[in-house]
Amino acid sequence: MADERLIVALDVHTFDDVKKLVGELRDSVSFYKVGMELFYSVGAGVVEWLKSQDKKVFLDLKLHDIPNTVAGGLCSLMGLGADILNIHASGGFTMMKTAAEALHKESERLGVERPKLIAITVLTSINQAEWCGALKISEQVVEFARQAKAAGLDGVVASPQEARLIREACGENFLIVTPGIRPAGADINDQQRISTPTIALRNGATHLVIGRPIRAAKSPREAALKILAEIDGL
Ligand code: C5P
Repeated sequence: MADERLIVALDVHTFDDVKKLVGELRDSVSFYKVGMELFYSVGAGVVEWLKSQDKKVFLDLKLHDIPNTVAGGLCSLMGLGADILNIHASGGFTMMKTAAEALHKESERLGVERPKLIAITVLTSINQAEWCGALKISEQVVEFARQAKAAGLDGVVASPQEARLIREACGENFLIVTPGIRPAGADINDQQRISTPTIALRNGATHLVIGRPIRAAKSPREAALKILAEIDGL
C-alpha cells in the first residue's frame, strides 16, 4: 500500500491525461486530488474511475454558499464515493456545522462511509501584502481551524507554514492537508507560504498535496518515489 500522506493533484483537462499519469505512477501513489479544472472538464466519472482503480480521492471543489445549499451540494457529491470533500471556512460557522451534520445524516441514511469534510482556511496564494483581514493571516488561519473543529469538521486545508499553530490549537486527530509543497532543494525563498515535504510533516501536516513537481517531471514516478523516500520515517 502506497504512503497515503502523498496526494497527487490531477490538474489536467482530459481523461486520457488522468489515465496516463495514474498508469505511470502505478502503485507508488494511492491518493489523488480532483479539483475544479478536471471535474469541470471531464465530469464526475473521473472520481468513479479512480475509485474503481482502488485509489483514494480528495474531491477539491471548495464549496462556498449559504448553509442549505452547501449541505445539499455535499450530499449530492457524497454519492461519487470521494474520501475527502471540502468547503470554505469563510462561509461561516453555521455553514460548516450544517454541512457536517448533513453529511453525517446522509451517510447514515444511505448506509455508506461518511467522507471526511475539511475546510479551506486562507488560500495559500494570498500573502500578507494583499491580505486585508483584521487579523494576521496566521491568526485567521488558526481561528478558522478552531471554528472548523467546533463545527464538527475533520480537518483543514492550510499552508504548511501554519500547520504547527493549527496542530497546537486543534490537537491530534485533526487532518491538516497542505498544498504549496515543493521538493527539498527547490527554490522557495521568495515565496512565504510554501514549504518542503519534510517541513510540512514536521509542522504537523497529515497530507501533502503535490501537483506540478510530479506531473512536470521527466519521470513522474521517479519524482513521486523521491518525495516518498524523503518522507519515509517522518
Ligand atoms: O503547485 P502544485 O501543482 O503542486 O499544486 C497542487 C494543488 O495545490 C493545486 O491544485 C492547488 O489547488 C493547490 N495549491 C495551493 N497553493 C499553492 C500551490 C498549489 O493551494 N501555493
